[in-house]
Amino acid sequence: MKATAIAPSNIAFIKYWGKADEALRLPLNGSLSMNLDATNTVTTVEFSPVLSRDEVTLLDGDFSDKEIERIIKSLNLIRSKTNTYSFARIATKNTFPKGAGAAASASGFAALTVAAFAALGITLSEKELTVFARMGSGSACRSIPDGFVEWKKGNDSDSSYAYSLHPSTYWDLRDVLVIVDYRMKKISTTEGQTGVKTSPFWRDRVAGIPAKMAAIKAALKAKNFRALGRIIEEDCLNMHHVMQTQNPPVYYWNDVTKTIMDSVVGWRKQGLPVYFTIDAGPNVHLVCEAKDEAAVIEKVQTVAGVENIIVNRPAQGTHLIQDHLF
Ligand code: PMV
Repeated sequence: MKATAIAPSNIAFIKYWGKADEALRLPLNGSLSMNLDATNTVTTVEFSPVLSRDEVTLLDGDFSDKEIERIIKSLNLIRSKTNTYSFARIATKNTFPKGAGAAASASGFAALTVAAFAALGITLSEKELTVFARMGSGSACRSIPDGFVEWKKGNDSDSSYAYSLHPSTYWDLRDVLVIVDYRMKKISTTEGQTGVKTSPFWRDRVAGIPAKMAAIKAALKAKNFRALGRIIEEDCLNMHHVMQTQNPPVYYWNDVTKTIMDSVVGWRKQGLPVYFTIDAGPNVHLVCEAKDEAAVIEKVQTVAGVENIIVNRPAQGTHLIQDHLF
């Protein structure tokens, strides 16, 4: 049987950086994100007894050997848990560049997990699907539930899962993704995170997360945009501080990233409620309310070095579709 899933990428408002268990991809801290509707991955999976190996194709580019290895590792896990002995044919495509800090691994492993189980005819609960996706790429678990999502840190594999706090229709926010460099990041998040404990600040960051999670959930509940934005920006700076003080340092920003960060502070002073957050790459996510989208875009267009602007709305979680890729 053939199955196809579409998965949104997600932007973390409270970010995860560092693992408590490398193999299971259990995080050092809980995190919270919003699914993004314009940056997604579509994946078709078919298991077939006639195949003599897994065949993985990225339709809009090339996978590195390392990436293929990681996909096959995920498939092997699914095969071993379901007593499946056939190889699979997989085709996948992204609506955005992978490796540019726009969380292609999140949407990628979410789509792969949901499509693979459907292709096997096995129905899992949403919670179980998030656990499998997490083992492919931590942040992928947050792309499975709807809208605004919390990933619980947990203390073993079953308790480290993601669930929807609010549906995508709950709050009409925007994530204006400003692309300042399309090239692949030099240090993968998997590699970068292994050094987290070399930062003298990692403990403080992890210790501060429960209070920050409570505060951001309260801001979401009250739809208090300024409170939400302040926490988003604070946590972004916090995470990058840990990254940049690791040994060796993991530094993702470039000059345009920094110009935008400074500009956002200036735009706020002029009365525009917009906040930045940045993942593992130089590109900047600007979070604002729908009413301010046009004003934010107008401001961003004045910054030299911006290559593209992608406007995201809150998206529903990963789901099956009928348009197969082969
Ligand atoms: O999902 P991973 O293991 O590639 O890590 C992603 C980590 C960040 O994107 C930097 C933060 C986050 O929580 O999404």
